[in-house]
Order: sequence, then C-alpha cells, then structure tokens
Amino acid sequence: MRAMTIPEPGGPEALVWAEVPDPEPGPGEVVVDVRASAVNRADLLQRQGFYPPPPGAPAYPGLECSGVVGAVGAGVTGWEVGQEVCALLAGGGYAQRVAVPAGQLLPVPAGVDLVDAAALPEVACTVWSNVVRLARLGRGETLLVHGGGSGIGTFAIQFGAALGATVVVTARAAKHERLRELGAAHTVDYREQDFVEEVRRVTDGRGADVILDIMGASYLARNVAALADGGRLVVIGMQGGRKAELDLSALLAKRASVAATALRSRPLDDKAEIVRGVREQVWPLVESGVVRPVVDRRLPMTDAAQAHRLVESSDHLGKVLLTLG
Ligand SMILES: NC(=O)c1ccc[n+]([C@@H]2O[C@H](COP(=O)([O-])OP(=O)(O)OC[C@H]3O[C@@H](n4cnc5c(N)ncnc54)[C@H](OP(=O)(O)O)[C@@H]3O)[C@@H](O)[C@H]2O)c1
Repeated sequence: MRAMTIPEPGGPEALVWAEVPDPEPGPGEVVVDVRASAVNRADLLQRQGFYPPPPGAPAYPGLECSGVVGAVGAGVTGWEVGQEVCALLAGGGYAQRVAVPAGQLLPVPAGVDLVDAAALPEVACTVWSNVVRLARLGRGETLLVHGGGSGIGTFAIQFGAALGATVVVTARAAKHERLRELGAAHTVDYREQDFVEEVRRVTDGRGADVILDIMGASYLARNVAALADGGRLVVIGMQGGRKAELDLSALLAKRASVAATALRSRPLDDKAEIVRGVREQVWPLVESGVVRPVVDRRLPMTDAAQAHRLVESSDHLGKVLLTLG
C-alpha cells in the first residue's frame, strides 16, 4: 500500500507518499481501507519531529479516518468486512490501509457522508472525554472554548450548546459569524479583547464553569481568573507554551481545579471506554443533526503538504479532510 512517510522531519514538503508494507490485523484488530483522514494540529508537530507516535502505533501521521472494513483479526466480534466505519487512531490515518484496535471503531453515523465521518472521531472523543467525563459540564453552565474556529472548537461549540450550556469562544474576528451560527452565544476576539473581562461581563461577574483550553502556559493565569467558583479548567493544548506559574491561592479561593489530558497516549481500554461513551452519548446528537461535522475543505491525500500549510496558517475553520480514491 501507500502511506505518507516522513523520511526526514521538517516542513510540509517532508511528507512523502510512498510504498510501504501492508498492515495485517493482529488479534483484536480490524484493518480499515481508508476513504478519508483529517489533519489534526498534532500531525504538524509529528511532521516536524516533535510528537513521535506512541509505542506500537503506525509510524505515519493521521489520528482518525473513515473507510470500509477490509479485514477482521482474531477475536473481533461485531464488525464485518465491507462495513462503513470511522476510527480513532494513534497514527496511520494518512495511508491506504490502517490496522485499528476494534474498540476504537465507530459506525458512520446515519445521515453523515462517509468522507465527512473522518472529521468526527478525534474531536468527539477529545471533547466528550474532557468536557463531559472529566469536567462534568452541566445544563445552564457556561463553557469557555478557546480556539472556537479549530476542529476541536467547532465541535465543542455545537456539543456544549446541545448539552444546554452557554458557550463563549475565543477566535479571530473573521470567524465569529460562523461560530455564532454553530451555537456560540458569545464570541471574543482574543487579539483585541480581554477574554477574562468578556467572560465576566456575559456571566454577570460569575465566570466560566468549564474552560476547554488549547493555549496552555500563556493563558493559565487568565484562565484561572476567568473561572467561576467551583470551575474546572481542562488544558488539552500547549500552543502558548508548556511552563507557567500557577497561583494556588486563586484556585483555593474558588475551589477550582486544573486538569490536563492527552488522548493519543491513553491505554487501549481507556480509549475503548471513551469511544463507547461517544457512541452512546454523542452519536445520537450527530444522527439527529444537532451536531454536525464542520468541514472546511476536502483535499486529495497527495496534497497533504498543502493541507498542512493551510492548518499551520489557521485560515481554516473546522476540519481539513484528506481523501483517497
Ligand atoms: N490533548 C488532547 O487529547 C488533544 C486532542 C486533540 C487536539 N488537541 C489540541 O487542541 C488544539 C486544537 O486542535 P485542532 O487540530 O482542532 O487545531 P486547529 O484546527 O489547527 O486550530 C488551532 C486554533 O488555534 C487558534 N488560536 C491560535 N492562537 C490563539 C489564541 N491566542 N487564542 C485562542 N485561539 C487561538 C486558532 O484560532 P484563530 O484562527 O481564531 O486564530 C485555530 O483555530 C491543538 O492545540 C491540539 O493540539 C489536544
């Protein structure tokens, strides 16, 4: 088969579509014939040599895919050759075929196109596991989503609103109108406005109950300041750096908490539990049309370098898909 190799880490031109050995389904695994994958921010880091795949994962980038089951390994039940699926991957989505632990497969939600289904597994699993399972966002609470125009953000807006939360987002101004259409109640231009002030203003001074943060160090102090009493800050990205000072007295006074999580490196049984949770609690919202994949554009897999340039520029809104066949 062919897959996107990275012979030498570097810029987008480091991606080389090359002949590689076919994957075989190990026990408990399924091989998916890939129809589409999606670009995640982490793929840019992997291409630059900063985010190697976890042990046992395919060497190629690609944290999610959609496609058709091509082979089923020993001990797998519930999945059949020919079935349309999408999958959460630890890597290997930028390829014609990928072996996946069966616990990370999801059916393509009814009403979603097979290609667009590649836009869902990573964002659904990340947002559900952090916002619901960990931070327990409740109806009537306020959710602050940083980077509302990202793949993660566009999903979190729709999902948070569907759960009955008031969603506030930070994003560049050009993306605000579309983000309000997706369900954001308030948009903050982080380049011009102070999000702490804005969150306080729209919550009558209370602050955000849950913050889904992708910036890390550069936002830590301001995120803590923007939290409501009993608030939960969940850091899932470090686009603004990894090291910062935390004033614990600010957390103590608010009885607030800070957590940080990564999806890719979780044990397989934990990923399977997250995928089960997504299938039970998120897929019905997708199938009823309340939450939809937000696709900026589709590009052929062989144009992955162009897709990486686009995502690097952040000019996209939602997900950039890479298609095959
Ligand atoms: N921990 C995990 O398990 C996990 C899983 C998936 C993703 N992530 C992380 O989640 C983040 C989003 O991933 P993605 O693939 O969806 O990314 P993406 O589509 O490439 O989006 C990145 C976003 O960052 C925004 N941004 C840049 N500077 C900002 C600032 N100062 N304030 C607010 N937003 C800012 C950009 O918004 P503008 O265009 O508005 O500037 C852009 O929408 C990444 O950091 C990724 O590593 C973590």
